[in-house]
Amino acid sequence: MYTPQLIDHFINPRNAGVIEDADGIGTIGDPECGDFIRIHIRVRENRLQGVTFEACGCPASIATTSVLTVLALGTTLKEALSIAESDVVEALGGLPEAKIHCSNLGTAALRQAIACHLQQKKSNFRYL
Ligand code: FES
Repeated sequence: MYTPQLIDHFINPRNAGVIEDADGIGTIGDPECGDFIRIHIRVRENRLQGVTFEACGCPASIATTSVLTVLALGTTLKEALSIAESDVVEALGGLPEAKIHCSNLGTAALRQAIACHLQQKKSNFRYL
């Protein structure tokens, strides 16, 4: 049984879409079920100024990623990296046991988007 919070985030996903010229993009799929999530981030002064997502997945993967974007917006990169799957589940008031794995996709995609951003910054660094 899904919670009212989950149903709300599934029917009215927050921050769905793309960020043109994103500072980082992360895409994660689950080969078992075929669902995937892509997250775009905009970073300003080490904070997530923008977090959006695209999804091809089940209601739980969409709702967990939607609430993840809400949790992540405005956080520092370090804070965003520390958002755990359990934080996402808690923010939705729980998930059926069989759907817990769905909360992994968004968090993994966000971590990958941040890693992508940090890698880009590193490759732009030039020794003088
Ligand atoms: Fe695969 Fe939900 S069933 S992410």
